[in-house]
Amino acid sequence: MPVALTVNGRTTPAAAGSTLFECAEALGIRVPTSCLTNGKCKECVVEIAEGMAILSPPTAAESHLKAPFRLSCQAELASESGTIRCHTMRRGQMRIERHGLQVPAARSPLTPDPAVTRGGDGIRGILIDGVEIAQSSSPIHGLAMDLGTTTIVLRLFNLESGEQIADASFENPQRFGGSDVMSRIRYDTEHPGKLLRRTVAGYVTHAIEEFPVDPATIYEMVVVGNSTMRDLFFRQNVYSIGQTPYRSITEIEMADGKRSSTSLVETGRRCLLPIHPRARVYGLPIISGHVGADAAACMLAVDIAHEDRLVAIMDIGTNTELIVGNRHRILAASCPAGPAFEGGAISCGMPALDGAVEDVRLDDEGRFTLGVIGDSTPQGICGSGLIDVLSELRRTGRMNEMGRFEDGADRVVLDAGHDIYLLESDVNELAQAKGANVAGLRTVFSHYGLDLEDIDVFYLAGGFGRHLNVDAARRIGLIPNLPDDRIVRLGNAAIEGASIALLSRAKRLELETTVTRVEHCRLETHPDFFDFFVFGCQFLPV
Ligand code: FES
Repeated sequence: MPVALTVNGRTTPAAAGSTLFECAEALGIRVPTSCLTNGKCKECVVEIAEGMAILSPPTAAESHLKAPFRLSCQAELASESGTIRCHTMRRGQMRIERHGLQVPAARSPLTPDPAVTRGGDGIRGILIDGVEIAQSSSPIHGLAMDLGTTTIVLRLFNLESGEQIADASFENPQRFGGSDVMSRIRYDTEHPGKLLRRTVAGYVTHAIEEFPVDPATIYEMVVVGNSTMRDLFFRQNVYSIGQTPYRSITEIEMADGKRSSTSLVETGRRCLLPIHPRARVYGLPIISGHVGADAAACMLAVDIAHEDRLVAIMDIGTNTELIVGNRHRILAASCPAGPAFEGGAISCGMPALDGAVEDVRLDDEGRFTLGVIGDSTPQGICGSGLIDVLSELRRTGRMNEMGRFEDGADRVVLDAGHDIYLLESDVNELAQAKGANVAGLRTVFSHYGLDLEDIDVFYLAGGFGRHLNVDAARRIGLIPNLPDDRIVRLGNAAIEGASIALLSRAKRLELETTVTRVEHCRLETHPDFFDFFVFGCQFLPV
């Protein structure tokens, strides 16, 4: 009986001796590659969910990978029978936020004022900031990229009309280096060869090549991402971001007077991308520490530099980023919340993929009704589902504010048939993640000298904020207890900000100034931080 091989949810019988790469191709699944499947490009990584033992041993080309990751061109089926389940780093069903929703800047049309213009000695000249870099009569294109720890979003624009032509989104393939920024920093430090960056460059290259324009007509690219993602992409040493006081090398150099901005500039060629070799690749400035260029892009998207009202922007993730202020004063902080709200470290936790429970209701008889992404069989619970469960348990009195189940059991079973449950120890993990977020909020407001109820607009940024149930999040105290009309879900504000920076030189320059006046609050130095944290661990409205 041949091996039953499942790749990205598609199953086929497969014979011993074939590679996972060959099997995936036979299933019609394109595995990213830039080599002749000879182990050189390192792009064809797959994650093995089942059946590692019936694959050939890792080859020398895979020395940079640990279980459960393999290079699909190297891993051969070494048995005549058994089951293997794996997926590529480009799962199609991942839910990725490609747009901003209620982004203030997106509502008022922007007059394109790009850094790339036409002119010089003739109509064919292509100039960047007035310096000719090429001659061409083809349209001028530009790219905006939000390089997230988990997902990557690209937008292609015609820079002359400001029109968006195409977009693309996919999972960040650096997952083999760990799921959070600290793991990636460790991986990059321990493995020579800039493998994380090379892998991303390979995937971005494939995405660019699929766009309906000649890549050589792309003359500028704006990159946003947290400090680690951005600096990895620009080949910076990220070691210092992982060590207290958590500073990007650009921040250290700026403090030493060696540079005037934390923004980064490279050429297309040096970034290993197929865009014009002399194209400018511009990394937006970071704010400070882990509050990176994605947070700076969010500031641009909500136009905080011209805002009179007091606004708070919260991007909940493994490192929650917070920005609070208006045109007079802006404070920022990052809260090391950990992966619990992304399903990490939770028994039945999983990312927001097909099969994730995202919506939970509990009736008076204690019966759960579950909403599952893709309307498929429940396989686990994602972040928004976890918030719903906690909220429903609190609403019905089945869990106290300390996170203890009132019936004395160690678990709450959501779906016995599919073995979906929440342990009291999971609640503990979620309490600590929430405690870090609340402590961050309270610390920033304490620095500001204001209360949470003074917030005029509370923006929830990012994919997580986009899908969470606001009532549930308020009930358990993950977000401030503000009325509906003061809470706005932004969606992917970072890609909106990156697009604005690409299309408007004036806005980009303005942001360079705005970030320098953001005051960074280092949470651990606030005398009340521990008290804020302990309070935040309780499931009570804040
Ligand atoms: S296809 Fe290039 S390393 Fe496997």
